[in-house]
Amino acid sequence: MKKRIAIFASGSGSNAQKIMEHFKKHRDAEVAIVLTNNPDAYVLQRADNFEIPSHIFDRNEFYNTDNVVNILKNLQIDLIVLAGFMWLVPQNLLAAYPNKIINIHPALLPKFGGKGMYGDYVHKAVLAGGEEESGITIHFVNEHFDEGEIIQQSRFKIEKGDDLEMIKFKGQQLEHQYYPKVVEQLLKKMKTL
Ligand code: GAR
Repeated sequence: MKKRIAIFASGSGSNAQKIMEHFKKHRDAEVAIVLTNNPDAYVLQRADNFEIPSHIFDRNEFYNTDNVVNILKNLQIDLIVLAGFMWLVPQNLLAAYPNKIINIHPALLPKFGGKGMYGDYVHKAVLAGGEEESGITIHFVNEHFDEGEIIQQSRFKIEKGDDLEMIKFKGQQLEHQYYPKVVEQLLKKMKTL
């Protein structure tokens, strides 16, 4: 049986798209479901385009019930991939999938992480900080925002004159290049591929 990935996303889902593309015709693994807290998230359309089922949950379902965990267990999910998912992962989900939930963050953690540091806020803070470089971090998820063990970081130089859009673009290029590969490597390491 193919190994099964669940993607959690709250917005556009360009990273989810790259992962769904990567595993579309993969021999050993597949994206089995996309989950979101946001009924208007474009990632739902993207999942639909790949004929991948999706599930929308609200705050009560996510934090006060085992419904999401049960859905993942029923689908025999092996790895949970957060791709622009903006809610903290609750304890019941962390306990059900120890070291099997990963996240991508658009900066070089531990700098520019934590509550409120997501999307453009991160890039704005990087610019305001006068940093010479930025990058991406792929890490395991724990009960705090952006604090789990780091799996991989990739960096780029911030050139004079780089604005928000340019920094965002450079980061996104790295995210799209590396996230699907890291997911694949992790599945292999977990001896599940
Ligand atoms: C990505 O840049 C991801 O690193 C960031 O949200 C974006 C989602 O883009 N995640 C965080 O900021 C988490 N703290 P996408 O929806 O196009 O994949």
